[in-house]
Amino acid sequence: MAQQVQGVIARAKGEPVRIETIVVPDPGPGEAVVKIQACGVCHTDLHYREGGINDDFPFLLGHEAAGVVESVGEGVDEVAVGDFVILNWRAVCGQCRACRRGRPQYCFDTHNAKQKMTLTDGTELSPALGIGAFAEKTLVAAGQCTKVDPAASPAAAGLLGCGVMAGIGAAINTGNVGRGDSVAVIGCGGVGNAAVVGARLAGAARIIAVDIDDKKLETAKNLGATHTVNSRSADPVEAVRELTDGNGADVVIEAVGRPETYEQAFYARDLAGTVVLVGVPTPEMKIELPLLDVFGRGGALKSSWYGDCLPSRDFPMLIDLYQQGRLDLDAFVTETIALEDVEKAFERMHHGDVLRSVVMF
Ligand code: APR
Ligand code: ZN
Ligand code: ZN
Repeated sequence: MAQQVQGVIARAKGEPVRIETIVVPDPGPGEAVVKIQACGVCHTDLHYREGGINDDFPFLLGHEAAGVVESVGEGVDEVAVGDFVILNWRAVCGQCRACRRGRPQYCFDTHNAKQKMTLTDGTELSPALGIGAFAEKTLVAAGQCTKVDPAASPAAAGLLGCGVMAGIGAAINTGNVGRGDSVAVIGCGGVGNAAVVGARLAGAARIIAVDIDDKKLETAKNLGATHTVNSRSADPVEAVRELTDGNGADVVIEAVGRPETYEQAFYARDLAGTVVLVGVPTPEMKIELPLLDVFGRGGALKSSWYGDCLPSRDFPMLIDLYQQGRLDLDAFVTETIALEDVEKAFERMHHGDVLRSVVMF
């Protein structure tokens, strides 16, 4: 029997979000209904509301979530009723060329639930990133659920579903940070600070945090940055060079998504260093670099989508580290809020003192 629950809906471009009653169908083959326990407020939710992702209004927002599997459809063996799970953006197909070559993070046949959640008048909803977890319950593909230790705090676990995973993964998966490496992180919001944490987990010896906001740099320091640079008052490329014996960093992670910070990352790396772009640029942004400078440096220029994560491998591993006290996910939870407060949390995002607001159910 389809159920009616409350969810946060963006009806039209730029309009404030509203709580509305939504209809969640029973799970079909390969699907699951998850009772949400916690869901972080991410910039991408705001982006959906502003029409910056696509025009498929109305959206059911929320995508950084953990909860308990309430029911599963036919043929589901990934998870069972009662499992504590973290949701991911898309289930991978297991069949395409990327999946068969052991790189399912590049799967080009990923999918979400086939059935649609609706408003009570039958209007179909577009769930943010195929999840839609600012709701008491949501419908997803079973492959979007990863079972983790149920003793973990839902607020902390949910964060691995998006921004924190993107940052940690940019360091440990894409950047392949190794013991003793020097790492610079440009832009220390939620994603960049998670990259600082990832670099520390990987055993980096020097972690240089760069931002224009001293509050962000303070947080970076608390999370394990060994040095901080305010790029309003110092040239970040020079500063990173000085702090790395004139060499540049082994890995530079760009977590802003702007041409000028990408250029800084490009020049702040060691001759054989790696640049990881995890910040998301807009379509009109361009960079211009002397080709000779590209040629004259080795190393690698990489981009990192969702931290190159494999949810089935990375979520349980990071939850284990969290449970052992080796990964402070709680530090990213600035405040817990009610479903009604998502709009207020969007407003607070611009003030810069919130890493994550997390809706608790
Ligand atoms: N130099 C250094 N830091 C900068 C600059 C700059 N020129 N401009 C902005 N910043 C800093 C901000 O002060 C802030 O601390 O970058 C940080 C961005 O953080 P958030 O706005 O909190 O964004 P976050 O959620 O961390 O995401 C960062 O990654 O996933 C993508 O879409 C996301 O592009 C965004 C990026
Ligand atoms: Zn595939
Ligand atoms: Zn997100």
